[in-house]
Amino acid sequence: MQKSNESLLLDNFHLVNERYRIIRLLARGGEGYIYLVQDSYNNNQICVMKQMYLGPADLQGIEKDYQLFSNLFHTNIVQVLDFFWENEVFFVIMNYIAGENMKDYLRKMNKPVEEAKVLNWGLKLAHILRFLHNKKPLPIFHADIAPDNIVIMPNGELVLIDFGIARAGFDAVGLRENYSAPEQVNGILDASCDVYSLGATLYKCLTLKDQPDPGADPKKENPNISNRTAELIKKATAKTKSSFLGLVKNRYANIDEFIDGIHQCFVRESK
Ligand SMILES: Nc1ncnc2c1ncn2[C@@H]1O[C@H](COP(=O)(O)OP(=O)(O)OP(=O)(O)O)[C@@H](O)[C@H]1O
Ligand SMILES: [Mg+2]
Repeated sequence: MQKSNESLLLDNFHLVNERYRIIRLLARGGEGYIYLVQDSYNNNQICVMKQMYLGPADLQGIEKDYQLFSNLFHTNIVQVLDFFWENEVFFVIMNYIAGENMKDYLRKMNKPVEEAKVLNWGLKLAHILRFLHNKKPLPIFHADIAPDNIVIMPNGELVLIDFGIARAGFDAVGLRENYSAPEQVNGILDASCDVYSLGATLYKCLTLKDQPDPGADPKKENPNISNRTAELIKKATAKTKSSFLGLVKNRYANIDEFIDGIHQCFVRESK
C-alpha cells in the first residue's frame, strides 16, 4: 500500500543513512520530500536529498539507472553524489543548485519572457539534452523537461534537475500533463519526446500558459511572438500520427534538428 507522504516527512536534525543530517525541507515531491542536508562524512558539505517512496519497485533497474546518472558530469546537470535504500524508500543525494526554479521565476515575473531570452534558454537546454541523448551505450532521456525541473542560477545559467523518470533506454515510466509527448502514455520514449517537452516549456515561457494541446500556437496567447518562433514551438510539440507506413512524426525527430530550428529563429524575421 502507498505510504502517505506525511508519514515520510523527516524532522530537522534527523540523520539519514548515518551520514546526512537534515537542515530543512526544500520542497514536497510526488513520492516524498526534498531536503537540504549536511554531509557529515564530507566537511559538512551542503547537499540536497530527495526521498522517493517507490514501493516494491524494480530496485536493480533503478540502481542501474542512478549509477549512470551519477556518472554524468556536466555543469548544467545536477550532480548525483550518492543513492541508497532504506526500507522501500529510495534516497538520492545531489549537489545543491543555488537559484530559483523556472516555474517560480515565471510566477514572480508574471509576464511573458522576452522572445530572444526564451530562444537562448531553448538553445542552452537543447545542448544539455544533446549531451544526454548522445550517451553510449544507451541514450539518456530526461522524460520530464518542465519549468520546475530547471533551476535558473543567479549568473543566468540553467541547470537541469529531477531525473525521477529519466531512463537510459526507450521505455517511458512516467508522464507530465501538458508537458509530456502524447506517445509517452503508451510507454514510448525517444529523443523527440524530450524535444516535445522542451517545446512545451518554451511555450510556457512565451505565454505563461501551459500548452493546451499538442502543436497549439503560442501566438494565440501572445501575438508579439515572431512567426518563426511560433512555428518552432508548433513543430517541436507536433503530435505523432500513425499511417499505413507506421508512425509519422511531424515533430523535430531529434535534438539536432531542433537546434537547427532555433538557429533559424535567430535570423530576424522580416514581417
Ligand atoms: N539539487 C537541487 N538544488 C536546488 N534545488 C533543488 C534541487 N533538487 C530539487 N530542488 C528543488 O526542489 C523542487 C522539487 O524537486 P524535484 O523536481 O527533484 O522533485 P519533484 O518533481 O517534486 O518530485 P517528483 O520527481 O516526485 O515529481 C525543484 O523544483 C527545485 O525547486
Ligand atoms: Mg520535478
